Amino acid sequence: MTAVKGTGQGDAVSRDDVAAQTRQLYAGIHERQITEETSTRLPGYLELIDLDVTGLNCLDLGAGSTARDAIRLISAGAASVALVDVGDAWMTTARAELERHGIPAERYSLVDATGWMAGDDGSRYDLITCSGVLHHMEDPDSALTNVNMRLRPDGHFYLMVIGKGGLVRDFVMHTMRDLYASDSGFRSFMDGDPDAMLGTIRAGLHGLAVDRDRPLPAAYAQLLDLLSGGLDVDLMLTLKDRVNSPIYHEYDLAMATHLLESHGLRIVQRVYTAPQFTNIRAILEPVYSHPERPISRLLMGSGDLHLLATKAGRPH
Ligand SMILES: C[S@@+](CC[C@H](N)C(=O)[O-])C[C@H]1O[C@@H](n2cnc3c(N)ncnc32)[C@H](O)[C@@H]1O
Repeated sequence: MTAVKGTGQGDAVSRDDVAAQTRQLYAGIHERQITEETSTRLPGYLELIDLDVTGLNCLDLGAGSTARDAIRLISAGAASVALVDVGDAWMTTARAELERHGIPAERYSLVDATGWMAGDDGSRYDLITCSGVLHHMEDPDSALTNVNMRLRPDGHFYLMVIGKGGLVRDFVMHTMRDLYASDSGFRSFMDGDPDAMLGTIRAGLHGLAVDRDRPLPAAYAQLLDLLSGGLDVDLMLTLKDRVNSPIYHEYDLAMATHLLESHGLRIVQRVYTAPQFTNIRAILEPVYSHPERPISRLLMGSGDLHLLATKAGRPH
């Protein structure tokens, strides 16, 4: 199932614009995550995968302005990381983040995805990572063809894509995305500043408590207060990620397995990251770290997919 949105004026998004629009959205999200110091709130996958990255030459496809996975890889001993993302505007922020984390310039390079997808400079990598990116791509198959070509014969590919199904996920990925596409008022709310979004939601919840024909029992008033306190800018940025991006392909494990195998990549490990949220999403932490539990499947379906694969054809 793929959630594809219009521009907001009822037009289909032009194929050429999808990557640029996606980048523009994440430029804002990543800038704010850096300010809020939440860009690394999700735990890395490096400590979970059965792969020692020491000395590896890596490429991060869709690295983002926070450069967080490149920072993690080099800090864990990778020899180098090529960071690839759309255009060149992201590079200033990414470079500043790499420098802020003490990463020497000779350990990384910054690459525009358009040229990277179009040509082959002959470089081959030990590890390619693609975290939270493939599900936004208009043509995931081309990206994976490129990944396979750029991997050394015994190279690894780490892929993170969003899962599929579940009550909470379907509400966000379908009900909210559908509303964003069809309702200009909701769209302008979702496109707004995250602080303004937070203020609007809190005012709405407060209104439910006080703007009434008869008083709300104290316990429910407290519940609304707790709910309000459980919201923060980070949650607003997550909602923008889920709702405002032009494309969000959703994958269950069978779909991801098929996609990878059709590009010569064989899954060797699935890992479950254990996020630490500072907002109401903390309630759902076990759902992320234990997606096989019945309550997890009910709420979040297949669970997000964090997969380590190798180039097929060689025993692992
Ligand atoms: C959710 S962010 C993930 C960033 C980073 N991988 C991380 O985990 O923090 C998605 C990123 O994919 C990038 N992206 C979207 N379409 C792309 C494409 N066609 N080629 C390369 N990067 C793309 C966006 O610009 C954005 O930085």
